[in-house]
Amino acid sequence: MKTFDVYKLWPIEPVKATGSKVLDKDGQEYLDLYGGHAVISIGHGHPHYKKMLNDQIEKLGFYSNSVQNSLQTELAVKLGNLSGYPDYSLFLCNSGAEANENALKLASFVSGKRRVVSFKGAFHGRTSGAVAATDNPNIVSPFNSGHEVTFVPMNSISAVEAELSKGDVAAVIIEGIQGVAGIFSPDSMFLKELSLLTKRLGVLLILDEVQSGYGRTGNFFAHQQAGIKPDMITTAKGMGNGFPIGGVLISPEIKAEYGMLGTTFGGNHLACAAAIAVLDVIESENLIQNAAEIGAYIIGKLQEIKLELPGRISGIRGRGLMIGIEMESGYTEVRNRLLFEDHIFTGGAKSNIIRLLPPLMITKEDADRFLKCFKAQLTK
Ligand SMILES: Cc1ncc(COP(=O)(O)O)c(C=O)c1O
Repeated sequence: MKTFDVYKLWPIEPVKATGSKVLDKDGQEYLDLYGGHAVISIGHGHPHYKKMLNDQIEKLGFYSNSVQNSLQTELAVKLGNLSGYPDYSLFLCNSGAEANENALKLASFVSGKRRVVSFKGAFHGRTSGAVAATDNPNIVSPFNSGHEVTFVPMNSISAVEAELSKGDVAAVIIEGIQGVAGIFSPDSMFLKELSLLTKRLGVLLILDEVQSGYGRTGNFFAHQQAGIKPDMITTAKGMGNGFPIGGVLISPEIKAEYGMLGTTFGGNHLACAAAIAVLDVIESENLIQNAAEIGAYIIGKLQEIKLELPGRISGIRGRGLMIGIEMESGYTEVRNRLLFEDHIFTGGAKSNIIRLLPPLMITKEDADRFLKCFKAQLTK
């Protein structure tokens, strides 16, 4: 058997990693400004993370959700306290798509309605409801297209209101910052209005923080910059630093019923140990503050480069360590040369946006190395 060929692969095989550095099988070191697609939050191979996972596997790797698991409770309390949502409850699953799927399902259960409002450019994952709420017809199969989803332009409160006032909408789902679309932030004022509007009309507001959450933007969740409190918040990627885990933070106004949601693997012992270790390190190493500071430094320097070298960069967007550099010219060459000549991993979006999604622990030296190489590549 061979693997189903759905990924376009770089000709590089990482075999070891520490902090922000990845080693390939030939011993070449790379600076990781991609974080395995925004997944590596506390850095590769953190000693506390390794110890928590090793200790847990020695004790118990897995048992089902039909028995007590105090690791889930510990995780829920720590996540509630660190994120500023101590009164919310936590449903654990295995990925970002599943987190969104469960949030949409719960909104539909609670409201008794089926239509969802999503935004142009949105990406919410590849399970049935999540992909239906994703604005990319190429990845929506006929099987997924039976869901009732309406896409409206981001930052247009009148477009949202026009849909919600029809009375048949269960939920509005929005990313904290749109990632796959190329790093587009909803305006704070729009989020405030959206929060008030959904509350007024009794529609549930779901904040997808799968990519933008877990400290990446300098807040625990990106939407917190706007001072709003959604009904549900979905999370995954940085939550387990590579161990698959996702979650839905659920407002106390939504009541659980036995059997309403469920999963075999979600919240298993190893996943909880990984996620607890991540929160320990985010807190003890002040990684949210680091993301804010290093991110602001990188964005500031990129703006200088943009002015110094006209015609190369058309936009710099994002917050903290979720940064989009829209290229006016040379996107593919610059990204390839950063990878193969300078040995720096970056992410991409669309056909012209470089996405930086590094571990939250990167240093000013890491940032300077990237900035120097990036500027040099732009002048070639
Ligand atoms: C905003 C957002 N939501 C959901 C997902 C889906 O997450 P997963 O791939 O873990 O299912 C992603 C993945 O890139 C994402 O960026």
